[in-house]
Amino acid sequence: MTSRTTRTDDARQIHLAAHFPGVNNTTVWADPRSRSQIDFASFEHLARTAERGLFDFFFLAEGLRLREQRGRIHDLDVVGRPESITVLNALAAVTERLGLAATVNATFNEPFETARRFATLDHLSGGRAAWNVVTSSDAFTGENFRRGGYLDRADRYTRAAEFVELARELWDAGTGHPVRHQGRHFTVEGDFTVPRPPQGHPVVIQAGDSAEGREFAASAADVIFTRHGTLEAGQSFYADVKARLAAYGREPDDLKIMPGVTVVLGDTAAEAQEQAAEIRRQQVSPQTAILALEQVWGVDLSSYDPDGPLPDIDPVPDSGLSQGRTRRGDVVEIAEKWRAVSRAKGLSIRQTVIETTGRQSFIGTPDAVAAELDAFVQGRAADGFILVPHLTPGGLDPFVDRVVPLLQERGVFRTEYTGSTLRSHLGLRTPERILTA
Ligand SMILES: Cc1cc2nc3c(=O)[nH]c(=O)nc-3n(C[C@H](O)[C@H](O)[C@H](O)COP(=O)(O)O)c2cc1C
Repeated sequence: MTSRTTRTDDARQIHLAAHFPGVNNTTVWADPRSRSQIDFASFEHLARTAERGLFDFFFLAEGLRLREQRGRIHDLDVVGRPESITVLNALAAVTERLGLAATVNATFNEPFETARRFATLDHLSGGRAAWNVVTSSDAFTGENFRRGGYLDRADRYTRAAEFVELARELWDAGTGHPVRHQGRHFTVEGDFTVPRPPQGHPVVIQAGDSAEGREFAASAADVIFTRHGTLEAGQSFYADVKARLAAYGREPDDLKIMPGVTVVLGDTAAEAQEQAAEIRRQQVSPQTAILALEQVWGVDLSSYDPDGPLPDIDPVPDSGLSQGRTRRGDVVEIAEKWRAVSRAKGLSIRQTVIETTGRQSFIGTPDAVAAELDAFVQGRAADGFILVPHLTPGGLDPFVDRVVPLLQERGVFRTEYTGSTLRSHLGLRTPERILTA
């Protein structure tokens, strides 16, 4: 249903963020409207669109090594990734209210330097900085760093938790107050070089999904970026994570849950479905379909026909064919699921990959999409969404032009920014200053 009731009472408000398309499986480079993923003009276009749409924040992901397959760089990664905080500092100068979020790894960096860079971004932007703390620890990525893959999987969240705790001690100390931290991973004695940030602490985002990841988010994060985008999976993830907060003396609203989603609009439902199918075909080229299949099977499948049937050989777990961030989980189980989908619907390799690897999508008329996004938030499957457009840099424009006004009419999205900091957009308290030394 697409009724447009304006609610002013207790409707839950939707939070929105914009993911810059770049190195991921959803960006379509073959489209003639695609522009550079590294020119400042592209970042500026998407950020200005997000700010025009009154979004909470702009988001940059991070990859610290190009993925490889069969010993060659994965074709989706050759577009490259500039350093995020530098990009956000430049965007701070051309935006006024939009939050600015960078993904920075807590495995390969050091707390003092990371805290200093986020404190600086928070000052330059007038309180709009956010840090997405990720924990990738694989030895392959580690080879780009001085000490190699030096952290066991089990230790990455203990390091991340202490990393964030120490960063907050440094922010609280500001200039002129000594810092003394003695922990399992870090020993710091000295002083910080930047005054306490305008937000007190820049907003902390978490994007892992294991039990340790959820616990870390419950104890320390302000926002979770999740892949659980369907209504049922979203509701169960939402209930699980929110229930973990009380143990840390936190309220359910202290942690916002935002799945990454895509939106495809059309003037009619049928047109939107057609458009979505075309985008999926562009995202999963014949070559990309074979690469995706190899990530599950772990063997060279380059001789297979993308328009033919799935292999009947069994997958080989941990074969090392794919290096870097790839599909996680039990490959035997994934292969079984893919075979079942292919059998049930009579799908080729490429069609199966298209069918099984998409993100949660909202597809329909602007009215229908606004109603569905609203239903997810009122139904406690999410507090908002990180939109992942498929085109750089204009992919967010249709949503801002056509869906945002409908969310506003429904009374579930702001009609102007009421505060100047990202904490204020997200409805988060400014943390008290606690001095430890
Ligand atoms: C939605 C989402 C986005 C992520 N984005 C990044 C990223 O941009 N860079 C990165 O290095 N890791 C990223 N990660 C990986 C996580 O930091 C983490 O390493 C991974 O999910 C494994 O941790 P887990 O076992 O707790 O899920 C992302 C994870 C999720 C779920």
